Amino acid sequence: MDIDVCIRGRRSVRAYTQERVAKEQIETILEAGTWAPTGMNRQPWRFIVIEDKQLIKLVSDETKELVKKAMPPLATQLNTSEDVICYDAPMLILICTEKDPQWAQINLLDCVLAAQNMFLKAYEYGLGTCYMGFVQFLNSKPEVLRRLGMPENYDIQVPFIIGHPKDRQDNGIRQKPNIYKWIK
Ligand SMILES: Cc1cc2nc3c(=O)[nH]c(=O)nc-3n(C[C@H](O)[C@H](O)[C@H](O)COP(=O)(O)O)c2cc1C
Repeated sequence: MDIDVCIRGRRSVRAYTQERVAKEQIETILEAGTWAPTGMNRQPWRFIVIEDKQLIKLVSDETKELVKKAMPPLATQLNTSEDVICYDAPMLILICTEKDPQWAQINLLDCVLAAQNMFLKAYEYGLGTCYMGFVQFLNSKPEVLRRLGMPENYDIQVPFIIGHPKDRQDNGIRQKPNIYKWIK
């Protein structure tokens, strides 16, 4: 796929079918992540791929409670039995790194760059993705992280959902004028 089509076409998808995502596609998407640049080429990541719907529900339920406590204005929106966190997606991927205060910021940047590679590769396959920022709240719940197969002393840097989109996404809007300054 042409790179401009990919960059402009990718949108955050919040409605998925339950069709299984092919393992080979996921493996290629994970590999795309690992070609991202990393600070000092440390490639600090581990990837946890979760297809178990009960575990994804656990992530949504636990996250919902944490967000309600941390961000009370969002509580009304979150007081619903619907999965307004992971949107009933068939798969959740956690990009994780070892906890290391010295490298915390670089680790996050590395994982975010990996995620964008993965989003674009997924889009090329006709798959949808959505960054799940709230799920990072689970880093305060080691017992939940353990149930998600997180290695000891690791935490979540970038969580995202992936699957076959239910609908075609619109084109998105990018219309912030005057964001360039060109100094010659
Ligand atoms: C750091 C970050 C955290 C995000 N967290 C969430 C989230 O928790 N839930 C959600 O539905 N979308 C989340 N998003 C997706 C944004 O809402 C989305 O990227 C933005 O609205 C632009 O839309 P687009 O991705 O379709 O271009 C997140 C995006 C980023 C970059």
